[in-house]
Amino acid sequence: MSGAGAPDFFYREAQRLGYVARSAFKLLQMQKQYKLITPGSSVLDLGCAPGAWLQVACESLGPLKNGGVVVGIDIKKVKVPSLHCDARVQTVSADVMNLPKDKVRALSPQQRGFSVILSDMCPLVSGITTRDAALSVELGMRALDLAVGGAALPNLGDELDGSASDSDNNGVLKAGGHLVIKLLESEDVQEFRRICKPLFRKASWLRPKATRSSSKEIYLICQGLQSKARV
Ligand SMILES: C[S@@+](CC[C@H](N)C(=O)[O-])C[C@H]1O[C@@H](n2cnc3c(N)ncnc32)[C@H](O)[C@@H]1O
Repeated sequence: MSGAGAPDFFYREAQRLGYVARSAFKLLQMQKQYKLITPGSSVLDLGCAPGAWLQVACESLGPLKNGGVVVGIDIKKVKVPSLHCDARVQTVSADVMNLPKDKVRALSPQQRGFSVILSDMCPLVSGITTRDAALSVELGMRALDLAVGGAALPNLGDELDGSASDSDNNGVLKAGGHLVIKLLESEDVQEFRRICKPLFRKASWLRPKATRSSSKEIYLICQGLQSKARV
């Protein structure tokens, strides 16, 4: 079981239910409120280690016969957890900041993209609030760029530009698809919602119950990518 901080209710529940981290309850709450993952979904989980969201995503697909896939990417090597996961889950070890979109698209069913993209990516927290928030914005921006493609995004300043050195400008989120981005609260996060609002049917903030009170994390839940936003 991984997770910093003192064992609490969510830690103990995760252990009891066989989840590899208490973070499982954050995605469980999102599922309950927004029903992002449905049977047959194709899910991309960015920053997937140690694998609790892989477990919840796979469960949310329903029985194996319903199909669907979950692809997890992390800088760290991740073993697919044995509980709550089945043959529909695979993991790749890579730095999302340097992974071209065509390589990510190649991991999706028939290379047609994903119906749900989750980013729980987080920098190694240094304790320097402005630095941590800026790194989290970079990771969040990369997730957004991967999902919707650079052409759908307005011209952004360097600090908000997540496009890295990516020649493929098309996003890997399908029209109608959903995107979840974790951010650390700062002035810049409001800019995220402003950018995402016209691209999606709905964009709302969630601070899950399982988030520790000491954490600055907040999730932007973007539902229903508008087809005109697809490039
Ligand atoms: C909070 S953890 C994710 C927890 C996961 N959702 C779960 O429930 O098990 C954040 C992860 O983001 C990963 N990460 C941070 N930067 C990354 C990057 N550039 N590329 C890929 N993964 C990254 C870290 O290695 C870390 O495992």
